Amino acid sequence: MSTGTVDRDDTASTTVRCAACGVTLSDRTAQSTCTACGGLLVVEHVPHHRGNLLRAVFDERAAAALRDVSSTGRSGVWRFRELVLDADDDEIVSHPEGNTPLISRAAIAQFAGVDGILVKHEGHNPTGSFKDRGMTVALTQARRVGARAVACASTGNTSASLSAYAAQAGIPSFVFVPEGRIALGKLAQTLAYGARTLQIRGDFDDCMRLALDASDKLGVYLVNSVNPFRIEGQKTIVFEMLQQLNWQAPDWIALPAGNLGNTSAFGKALAEAHHLSLIDRLPRLLAVQASGASPFAQAFASGFVDRIRVRAETRATAIRIGDPASWDRAVRAIEATNGMVISVTDDEIFAAKHVIDRCGVGCEPASAASVAGVRALVQRGTIRPQDRVIAVLTGHLLKDPAGGEVDVRAAPEPPLTPDDALAMVERVLAQATESSQP
Ligand code: F0G
Repeated sequence: MSTGTVDRDDTASTTVRCAACGVTLSDRTAQSTCTACGGLLVVEHVPHHRGNLLRAVFDERAAAALRDVSSTGRSGVWRFRELVLDADDDEIVSHPEGNTPLISRAAIAQFAGVDGILVKHEGHNPTGSFKDRGMTVALTQARRVGARAVACASTGNTSASLSAYAAQAGIPSFVFVPEGRIALGKLAQTLAYGARTLQIRGDFDDCMRLALDASDKLGVYLVNSVNPFRIEGQKTIVFEMLQQLNWQAPDWIALPAGNLGNTSAFGKALAEAHHLSLIDRLPRLLAVQASGASPFAQAFASGFVDRIRVRAETRATAIRIGDPASWDRAVRAIEATNGMVISVTDDEIFAAKHVIDRCGVGCEPASAASVAGVRALVQRGTIRPQDRVIAVLTGHLLKDPAGGEVDVRAAPEPPLTPDDALAMVERVLAQATESSQP
């Protein structure tokens, strides 16, 4: 039956429901949040298959992807379409995306203190971050509902991804970014792909309020991670990781946390994978924030009694967020997985980044928070060295080449004349030979 595209399960059904007031909408809704009560929407699927049969559908598509020339067939998002969105092939806006590697490096294992730690590098996506997985679904939905324009607030990666996918879909796009506070690589991408880029005097949280306002007042389709279809795409980081692990759940999955869309998506993916018997036990989620931008970690420490808002400050600009939008569903994700939320200092983040970079893997600063968080929990004795741990690296090293600000350990040598440069190489080689003598 395979036609070069992905066969669909015609008996599956999908609905959208407001988590706050319970109102039910069709899967072709143009609402990003509930217009009745302002609550967050949730997409719910009832696939025809479960367990072994559903795993077999996904595994067969993964194998077919090697010879499949259609972008939907090759996508590491649409491979899981029964649990993402039941869109028609010609509605799908796919680069394709996903198919990111699980990487093992001795240096990272030694630093984290976990023998078998693997990193899942989402920086290998088309625009260099995990955002592409949610954006392929959000722009597909924008096309399905005939959106006249799309918009988001961003610390940089969402805007780069939105700009690329909106260009592919042929839909005008607007992005709101905090003035002077997004990394150069991300701004360059956003501009190059063609989004109208509005720098706002304020921080990310001001941009987020503006984006909600624009969608409310101007009817622009909002594709921040409050949009439930973004969450459906981002779930596939977890599905793909489980598939790569032959559906054997790890003990822990660690990820950086800012606006909490990804934490929510991971929780939803794990709940569904468990409910549908794709896995037989739930891994624990570890959400890691920067200590200067850690409202969620602070709330976790006091049992999530209150919602906390802070004025955020960290050199990991991607997660410089003080009032995360997906709060409630992220709380559910942590509680349902017996998860944890901790914060690490910028120094700890940059120490982890240094190790990740120096073994040739590389990532942007915020991404390194996941590995820094694992190390911190190993030191506390919560994660054991023999545990099976996956740390997600969310963005590519080139996104933020200066690392928030220049990392002195990575600063280049001052300019030299050719002769001085030769002499320097000679000196370094001589030192290396000396230090390798027994
Ligand atoms: N890592 C990177 C590289 C990010 O860009 C982000 C979020 C996160 C982690 C945190 O994910 O917000 O789902 O908790 N970046 C958003 C943006 C806010 O606008 O690009 P989250």
